[in-house]
Amino acid sequence: MGKYNLQKILYVFSSLNDLGRVITSNGSMDEITRSALYLILGTVSSSQGTVFRYEPSYSRMVRIVQKGLDGAVDLSFPLADGDLHTLLHAPQVIEVDRRPDGIDDFPDKAVSHGMYGLSGIRPSVESDLSCGFAERAGTDVPGFIFMHREHLKSVHASLLAPLRVGDELVGLLSVGRRFSGGEYGEEDLQILSMMSQQLSVVLYNQQLFSRLQCKVEENRLLYENLRQIYRDTIQAFAVAIDAKDEYTQGHSVRVAQYALAIGDELGFSGDELEGLHFAGLLHDIGKITVDSSIIRKKSSLSEQEIVEIHRHPSVGYDILSSIKFPWGDLSALARHHHEKVDGQGYPDGIEGKDLPLEVRIITLADSFDAMTSDRPYRKQIDLGETIQEIKRCIGTQFDIDVCHALFRVLEKELTGEIASPKIIPSLSLKYDPQQILRILRGVGHPFEAVKDPG
Ligand SMILES: [Fe+2]
Repeated sequence: MGKYNLQKILYVFSSLNDLGRVITSNGSMDEITRSALYLILGTVSSSQGTVFRYEPSYSRMVRIVQKGLDGAVDLSFPLADGDLHTLLHAPQVIEVDRRPDGIDDFPDKAVSHGMYGLSGIRPSVESDLSCGFAERAGTDVPGFIFMHREHLKSVHASLLAPLRVGDELVGLLSVGRRFSGGEYGEEDLQILSMMSQQLSVVLYNQQLFSRLQCKVEENRLLYENLRQIYRDTIQAFAVAIDAKDEYTQGHSVRVAQYALAIGDELGFSGDELEGLHFAGLLHDIGKITVDSSIIRKKSSLSEQEIVEIHRHPSVGYDILSSIKFPWGDLSALARHHHEKVDGQGYPDGIEGKDLPLEVRIITLADSFDAMTSDRPYRKQIDLGETIQEIKRCIGTQFDIDVCHALFRVLEKELTGEIASPKIIPSLSLKYDPQQILRILRGVGHPFEAVKDPG
């Protein structure tokens, strides 16, 4: 092997190594493709080149990067019938600007690299030889070159390398003439063959990434649709629950609003907050199985009726526990919304911090609405009295942190500190804001007045 060849081989290996580093670098796909093109052109000693990406949806070749052809090219061209098959089965490198230089060696050279001539006359029509070659290769490369001769001329195509991975076409590389003006040799064609296959991987990865992004977006939309169906269904259930009792019209919606306000104050966000809202809407779902006459009864309930109405948290749990909500398990919140922090509630008598925070929030929101709304058996309580009553029940019925979060929200809403109040606008009772603020401010520090039982 001569000195020249050894140097050339070392240079090619170095270029291949550089190309490998470019392909695995962290740049954008366009940057990687541009760097790869520049390296390939440098290695085969050309100053002009274009990389097209194949867009299967539109059956087009779209130029993505070029060198040495500033603004002089049509950026995309459509593939004709049969072009896809042709490019999938064509040799790895096609010489487009050199006519066959001898009948004797034409078939062999053509099979190795393709030699078709960009003469403007379709070779398969022009000569039996070319026609015979097209059949031998099982593909109509001459026809492809003839069909797209104007586009190929505009990018000064001298060599073409279809970019393929497996049985997928991902693009096309066009390389212009050599710096020197001489013809490409066997070595150049082999180098281009190797390097263009690496470029194919870049475009294939780009295609995969793009498909993945489409899939992710598709899944995101599907998931969002699913969540919306859940939201609509829950809203419909809330209306059905509240319709059971004319006195508690809007109860579930208000509890959801109050829970949302308290949760927000306690630092809930995103799905946690939305889950809390829906738990508020569904907490009384078990009531749909309780006889309306019991729910609407204005006089005292019998022992049997109390047992019946006390079933609604467990029934609610049974209804909701089989549903996989995107916001987590809402069934536990329905089951425990009549528990008390001192363990005297029902159905399970769970106490203190053993009750999830969400449950303690729903419990307070539920009672706050019960006290500030008319009930079949009593009128609504004044807002000031409600606050005093909640304060009195801290540590027995209610959690201290949750109560003080409610008090803070009320104060902020009354002073206008919260731009979109959720509690005050939902109240149907009259109150003196200044008096309520005085009561709220007399509530004291959350941890000094009442010992938290948890
Ligand atoms: Fe309830």
